[in-house]
Amino acid sequence: MSMENNTCLNKLEGKVAIITGGASGLGEATAHLFAKHGARAVVIADIQDELGKSVSVSIGSHRCTYIHCDVTDEVQVKSLVESTVETYGQLDIMFSNAGIVSKSNQTIVDLDMNHFDDLFAVNVHGMAACLKHAARSMVEKKVKGIIICTASVVGKFAMPQHTDYSVSKHAVIALMKSASKQLGQYGIRVNSVSPAVVATPLMCNMLGTEAAEVEKYAEPFTSLKGVVLKAEDIAEAVLFLASGESGFITGHDLAVDGGFTC
Ligand SMILES: NC(=O)c1ccc[n+]([C@@H]2O[C@H](COP(=O)([O-])OP(=O)(O)OC[C@H]3O[C@@H](n4cnc5c(N)ncnc54)[C@H](O)[C@@H]3O)[C@@H](O)[C@H]2O)c1
Repeated sequence: MSMENNTCLNKLEGKVAIITGGASGLGEATAHLFAKHGARAVVIADIQDELGKSVSVSIGSHRCTYIHCDVTDEVQVKSLVESTVETYGQLDIMFSNAGIVSKSNQTIVDLDMNHFDDLFAVNVHGMAACLKHAARSMVEKKVKGIIICTASVVGKFAMPQHTDYSVSKHAVIALMKSASKQLGQYGIRVNSVSPAVVATPLMCNMLGTEAAEVEKYAEPFTSLKGVVLKAEDIAEAVLFLASGESGFITGHDLAVDGGFTC
């Protein structure tokens, strides 16, 4: 490998990162990419313990650990951040990515308010708790850290169904913008990534079908033909936002959608 390529593979040299929802899908792909780019520690936080542990083993215990953390519980989020700082000295990157969809279609006339609350507990309340405790630790330790949230293309427009999901992702973008305004004075950057459709377990559940069908479903929505959006594409966008390459970018929602929303 040339020197040049070698440099390109070390965009996160020595950094300490937490990835919520890192046991599967977009979080899992990002955990692998962060480790590949020299992150000193990648802490996967999730509620799927077996899966989370197996992702951390596949990355290697010298770089990656798994911590059970239900983001709906602020006490667990606080402890996740504190134990990371205790073990590694500081937190440089929070990728707040955990999210769910409702079990029902959630059109406005049939809105199940319990499902609505359950979804908000993860997608909004959980996201806010992760930003709060990551930011507190960065401010306290004087770390010019980076926070990235996973929003969605449906954080910018409405869907015929899944009202609660769309509303929650609008809220994630508002949360990201508010945090970026408030944390800029400490040199902390806050951005979000908004994927279109990626065939992860979440999206397969939402559409009630398997990965190949999900990818076929997504195709007409994008301008780019013959290209399928994969979890690795989202991970690359997150890496960009987490690295020095995006040093003057904050308060930005980066759509990775093949022109879906344009
Ligand atoms: N896949 C897509 O097409 C798509 C598009 C736009 C946005 N997103 C967003 O991407 C993020 C990641 O989703 P994904 O597609 O990788 O799905 P996924 O289901 O593969 O991964 C989500 C992970 O979040 C974890 N999680 C759920 N509830 C949790 C909780 N209370 N505490 C901690 N972890 C929890 C799950 O266990 C899972 O490992 C979500 O925020 C989702 O809304 C996905």
